[in-house]
This record gives sequence, structure tokens and C-alpha cells, in this order.
Amino acid sequence: MSLAHNLSASISSSSSTFLVQTNFNSRTRNVSMKAKSIGICKCIATPQELQTAYKTKVSRNANMAKLQAGYLFPEIARRRSAHLLKYPDAQVISLGIGDTTEPIPEVITAAMAKRSHALSTLEGYSGYGAEQGEKLLRSAIASTYYGNLDIEEDDIFVSDGAKCDISRLQVVFGSNVTMAVQDPSYPAYVDSSVIMGQTGLFQKDVEKFGNIEYMRCTPENGFFPDLSTVSRTDVIFFCSPNNPTGAAATRSQLTKLVQFAKDNGSIIVYDSAYAMYMSDDNPRSIFEIPGAKEVAIETSSFSKYAGFTGVRLGWTVVPKQLLFSDGFPVAKDFNRIVSTCFNGASNISQAGGLACLSQEGLKAMQEVVGFYKENTDIIVETFDSLGFKVYGGRNAPYVWVHFPGQSSWDVFSEILEKTHVVTTPGSGFGPGGEGFVRVSAFGHRENILEACRRFKELYK
Ligand SMILES: Cc1ncc(COP(=O)(O)O)c(C=O)c1O
Repeated sequence: MSLAHNLSASISSSSSTFLVQTNFNSRTRNVSMKAKSIGICKCIATPQELQTAYKTKVSRNANMAKLQAGYLFPEIARRRSAHLLKYPDAQVISLGIGDTTEPIPEVITAAMAKRSHALSTLEGYSGYGAEQGEKLLRSAIASTYYGNLDIEEDDIFVSDGAKCDISRLQVVFGSNVTMAVQDPSYPAYVDSSVIMGQTGLFQKDVEKFGNIEYMRCTPENGFFPDLSTVSRTDVIFFCSPNNPTGAAATRSQLTKLVQFAKDNGSIIVYDSAYAMYMSDDNPRSIFEIPGAKEVAIETSSFSKYAGFTGVRLGWTVVPKQLLFSDGFPVAKDFNRIVSTCFNGASNISQAGGLACLSQEGLKAMQEVVGFYKENTDIIVETFDSLGFKVYGGRNAPYVWVHFPGQSSWDVFSEILEKTHVVTTPGSGFGPGGEGFVRVSAFGHRENILEACRRFKELYK
């Protein structure tokens, strides 16, 4: 292919379609675009300052302007890229973002391939599905994860992942609710709350957004908030096993949480994305706690069980018993939002989800989870042997390492600079994460071993 062809293809396949008149049909252009040719596009691109000369008359969503820096993980990716520019030959190992690395078991991909091929046949083709998910999958989720908890098929909403459902739940709640989060916690709760306009501005001195109740979770309180000091909010986000601390709430702690929600008339959004990582005898679902159906929603995911971070499949349980103050069922509003903002999970992903829940699939998922749990043990042992205080790990694929008195971004930078290993600074999960670094156990075994060797070298 000529350079000119490549060039016009790359330009017209990028967002700069207005730059070039072309005779190629769009299908050919897309197929022929090569990652490499994007570089050529960059060279001739209009400089950033000129691109921004024209301004529309649309004012920016003021809530977006409240957000800090950028979402945590893109910021880490940015720093990783900068590091690679500085050290182009470095063997960078990423134990940061928490993305899965191991192949999806074949029993699952075979089902997806079968469904995919069937789409090329008249009999097997299907278009839009039910926004709530396929009946068979909803039923399999209900029986597999909520078998004797009285959760029914129609309480389950299948989705393209827990993160997406967190945002859709925020749309259900709207802008006039108050919110509590564990501190530290998975950033999507706070950021989606800010975007919805539920919060005040970011207060630099305390590193918190106004109008969010940060429930401090530290080694001192066993990573479970002292509820006697927590103010009432409408919604309480609670993740167990927790990302990033790896802490899992016990039955008695969750019983207190449910009672707290009931006393305050609050709704708990319980994130159980790591429930299958639980080793201890703690609840896997909030619905194991009596009375939880009247105060809780649960969101979960196949991402970390089956390597579906790219495939995309999750679910949210909204029990019929959960009502707003006017008696209207929360599930009906969630259904309305899902039907408006979402067109259902991919039918191929759902075939994969169904395979995950077959006998063979469940066994395969346990193996995937078991593999990452072995990685976790290796990381825990490493930091233990180096004399660090280490938390998490037992019930989650995250190890929470304490660097008392140090800034977590400084520790992150030092580890990256000296070992070429990407971790996650604890403060990125909230002010309560300051002084900690999260090390993810998602990695190929040789990378985990190599990273641990480098940690030992750095901290010996
Ligand atoms: C606590 C928690 N919830 C949700 C998610 C996102 O899950 P999904 O891939 O299903 O969107 C993550 C991903 O890291 C997570 O850590």
C-alpha cells in the first residue's frame, strides 16, 4: 500500500475525518488502518493550541470540572507511559490497574464462539435482546449465587459490568441524594457521585469532596467503619471484599451495616465483585443478612472470576422489597433507567456467562481465582518477609502494603523508578489510603515472581 493511501486512511479513520476527501469506502478504510500509521497522522496534526481556538457556546458541566486530575487508573497509565518513554528498554510489570491477565477457560470461550457463529445463520441470529438480560442467564445467576436467599430471576439485571451499573444506579438516585463511601474505596463511587452533582467541591486541605461521608477504614478499626461516627446518608456504597484494602466484612459487621441502614432509612449499594475470592467464612452476598432485601442492592461481575474485563458482563440485584420513601419499588426505576440508557449485554457475552455457570465453567472459574490467589500469597509473603505490615490478600486479589508516614504517590514513584513495577498509590482511593500502596495479584506467574524479586532487591 502506498504511503499516500496509508496516510489518508489513517487520517480518515481517526477523528479528523473533515481533513480529507476520500474515495475509499469506509469499510476498506477501517480494515486497512494500521496502528503504525497513526504516528504519521500525529506529525501533520494541528497543534493542540490551534485546535482549541474555536469554542462552542456550550458551557461545561460544572460537575465534571469538580473532578480531580483524571480518573485514577488513566492517570497511572499516563505515568506508566511516561516511564516507558524515559526507559524504553525497561521490562515494566504492571501490578497496578487490576486488570486480569490469564486466558479465559476454553469451556467459556467455546460457548461464546458457538453463539458467535450461530449469529451468521438464519436460525441462530438474534438482534436486540431484553435489556435486563436473557432469562436463562438471569435464572442461572439467581440459583448459583443466591440459591437459598430468596432472590428471584426477575430481581437480577444482567449488564455489561459492575462499573457501568454503578453509574446507572447513580442516574436512578439523581442529584439530590447524599452518599457515603468506605475510605479508601473503588474510585467509581465517588467520581460518579461528583458527576451526578451529589457533592460539593473538592476540598484540597482534607482531600475530600464536600457532602460525601467518608467512612474511614483503617487497620485500627479492622477496615470496618465505626458506624457510631458516621452521619446518615441516603446511599451507602459498600464493597466487600474491598478494593483496595482486600478486607472482607464479617457476618456480624454486615449485620450492623444492615441495621444502620434500616435505622437511617438508607440504601446500601453492595459491591461483591470479588466475592469468589473469599477464603474466610464471611458472607458472599449482602442478602445473606436477614432484612437486607429491604435496604440493599448488590452489584457484581464476571470480570475477575472469568477474565471478562474485556468481554464485559456483570449483574445487579435489586430486590422487589426495596422501596423508596413514597413506596415506589427501586427495581421499577432501575428497570426504566436500564431500558433507557442500555440496550442489554452482548448476546455473545451472555452465552459466555451461561457457560461460566455450568458445572465445568464454575470449576474453571475456581481455578482462575485459585491461580490469582496463589499470586496473592507470593506477594503477601514477599512484603511480610521484608518487614512490612501487609493487609488484604486472603479474601481478595489485592495486597495493601503499609508505608507509614510516607506519601503513597512518592512510594508509587520510587517503586516504578527503581523496579519498573507499576503499583497503585493508596491515596488514589481516598484520603484514608494515604501511606499505603495496593499491589494487584493479577499477573502471569513469572511476572509476579520477578516483581517480588525486584521488591526484595529494593527493600532488602
Ligand atoms: C470494586 C469493583 N467494582 C467494580 C469493578 C468493575 O467491574 P466491571 O469490570 O464489571 O465493570 C471493579 C474493577 O476493578 C472493582 O474493583
